[in-house]
Parts: sequence; C-alpha cells; structure tokens
Amino acid sequence: MGAAMFDNLTALPPDAIIAMMQQAKLDTRAHKIDLGVGVYKDGSGAVPIMRAVKTAEDIILGEEMSKSYVGTTGRVEFRRLMLDMILGDQFDAPRIASSQAAGGSGALRLGAELIKSAAPDATVWVSDPTWANHIPLIGSAGLLMDKYPYYNRDTLGVEFDAMLEHLDRHAKPGDVVLLHGCCHNPTGADFSEDQWDRLVPFLVERKLTPFVDLAYFGLGRGLGEDAYGLRLVFERAPEALVAASCSKNFGLYKERVGLIAVLCRDEATARIAQTQFGAIQRKLISMPPDHGAQVVERILGSGELKRIWLDELTEMRGRMRNLRVLLSEALDVQGGAHIARAVADQNGMFSTLPVSPAQAEALRNDHAIYITNSGRINIAGANASNIPNLASALLDVLS
Ligand code: LMR
Repeated sequence: MGAAMFDNLTALPPDAIIAMMQQAKLDTRAHKIDLGVGVYKDGSGAVPIMRAVKTAEDIILGEEMSKSYVGTTGRVEFRRLMLDMILGDQFDAPRIASSQAAGGSGALRLGAELIKSAAPDATVWVSDPTWANHIPLIGSAGLLMDKYPYYNRDTLGVEFDAMLEHLDRHAKPGDVVLLHGCCHNPTGADFSEDQWDRLVPFLVERKLTPFVDLAYFGLGRGLGEDAYGLRLVFERAPEALVAASCSKNFGLYKERVGLIAVLCRDEATARIAQTQFGAIQRKLISMPPDHGAQVVERILGSGELKRIWLDELTEMRGRMRNLRVLLSEALDVQGGAHIARAVADQNGMFSTLPVSPAQAEALRNDHAIYITNSGRINIAGANASNIPNLASALLDVLS
C-alpha cells in the first residue's frame, strides 16, 4: 500500500488563547483567577446569557415556522438595525454594502476577501500588537500584512506620532489600515477623540483606506463614545470598512453573529460590492448562521427588549470599569503606580501589562492566575474579592 495522503500533515501548535482557555478550565485550585479568553464574566465568574437574549430566544422559539435558508448576505433587517446602531442616523446608506457574517471573525474575513478582489496588491497594516488572530485571518485571504507601531510598553499608552510617522513613510496609497474602533485588543489603549480627529484626515490625505474592527462596541465608555472614531471614518473617508461583532456586547459568542459593511465612493459601486459579498460568502461558507442574528434583530427592533439589553450592557461596562478602579487602587497602594494609571485609563476587557512570557508563566503556575504570554489580562475575569491577591501576585512576578 502506498503512503496515505494525510501522512503528509504536520502537527500545529494550538492557538495560544484557546489553549489557555482549556488549561484554565482544568485548573482545580480554588483561588484560580482566569483572565484569559475575551468573554465577559459576571461577579460569580459565569459567562451569562443576557436577559434580553433569553427573552428574544423564547419569542423566536414560539414563533419560528421554518428553518429554510435566508440568503448569502443574511437578514436585511438585521443589517439595517446594526448599521443604524453603530453608525448613528447620519450615514449615507446608499453608499454602503453589507453582509451578515459568522461572528466578527467572519466579518473580517469577508472584508479581507473583498479587498483582495478589489486591490490584490494592497497591504493591510495592523497595530503592533494586535489581536493574535488578525494576521492569520486576514492574511490567509492572500493579502500582504504589515505592522504599525501602536502600544508603548514603557508608557503603556498609544504611540500616536510614531504610528503616523511610520504609515507616512511606509504605507502606499491604496493600502488598508486596520483600526480597533474601541477597547483595543490586546492593550485596552484607545485613541483619544483628538487623535481620531487627526488620524482620519491623515488617512484620507494619504489615500489609506480605514478598516475598523468593532468587536467590543458598548463595552468601553458608552455607545456614543465607542462609536466616535468609526462615525468620523464613515463621515469623512471616501471609502471604508467596518467589521462589527455581536459576540461580546450581546454575549452571543458561540452563535457567531457579526456584520461587515463597506462604504463605497458612490451608490453604483455599493451595488456591485453587495453582489461581491454574496458571492464571497457563498464560496466560503454559503450562508451565515441565522439564530444569533435573529436574536439581535429582535432585540434592536423592539423598544422594550432594546431597553433591557442597553441596561444590561451598561451594567457590564460598569462592572469592568469598577474592577479597573479597584485593581488600579490596589496596585497603587502596593507600589505599582505606573501600571495603576494605565489600568484605570484603558478601556474594555483588556489591558496589556509589562509582563514577560516567563512572568506570565509564573503567574499561571505559581499563582493560578491565567494571563496570556503577551501580558494581556481580561479584567472581567476578576472580582472585588480577588483583586488584592491579583495586584500582589502581579507585583510579585514583576519585582
Ligand atoms: C479574545 O481575544 O480573547 C477573543 O476575541 C476570543 C478569541 O477568539 O480569541
């Protein structure tokens, strides 16, 4: 018998975040603190289903009469409601093409494939650091990728001037710049409104197309605040993309709900881009999953459910903000003033602390505290009672 086809495969290392998620689950130490994967946790450490989601699901379960296909770009009403929510009411709808996607990741991939069809030689610039999956996800569409400086691991803030200088020197007209709309993953360090005000005209002038990854909308400072940069981009740039996720803000992680939208120069181009989205999705996965999008459509389309959802989102955001303040105070008291300030200033679930891979390993092994080797923490994994231990373990490994 000849060699079997799959004998040629080589074993690959597991994705670091997903592997750590499994490792933390198996750790039985009672004082364990899991600050790993980006899911929102409540005070008891559970990843809850939101009340608005449960209610919408109950209604759907009672009313749904068919599981027939919806279409390659998903639900029209879901897309309209999502665009309304993230872009506000000022956007130029006829110039926008969009598609429902299998989560924020699916949205990023649809966007990457669209760019590849339109401008195969474009380089996509990502922040250094960025979400670990951005490069494989976008790069495997066949696009060139490169990095711009973003996070300064000494100041724990955004290196804005270095970023502009780097793009000015190295990016060519027609390239794409991936930006995190809010709650930068992995650092939590966002652009200020002043920086967005400088960045958008810079990109327009250099003919660089902004691609906004909006994975944590509503979990930073508030809906309006978190959309500031995205709305400015869609107002000022002739062309732009946004990939929005409903994983975190609706807690619909495993249902895979997201939206990709592209702003085109004119309506005719948007109509063409719309056909492209349909064709791209068809060749990749044929059609996006429906259930989660149906839930989001129900919630955003009903005054009452939307109000409940917004209250829950406000509570989630408030809990994380409060944990940031507590951790910041504990670090400050214990002598970590510099990190304390950054933790308090940063947004959303994540902060990247100046922790080396060896120190991250020591946190996991010696303290049962799970953070990625890059030094990223998910603040939602902590709670008021374990914050003092967290602060002292951090300072212990850093000393
Ligand atoms: C994260 O960054 O932890 C999340 O976006 C989950 C993931 O898929 O990596």
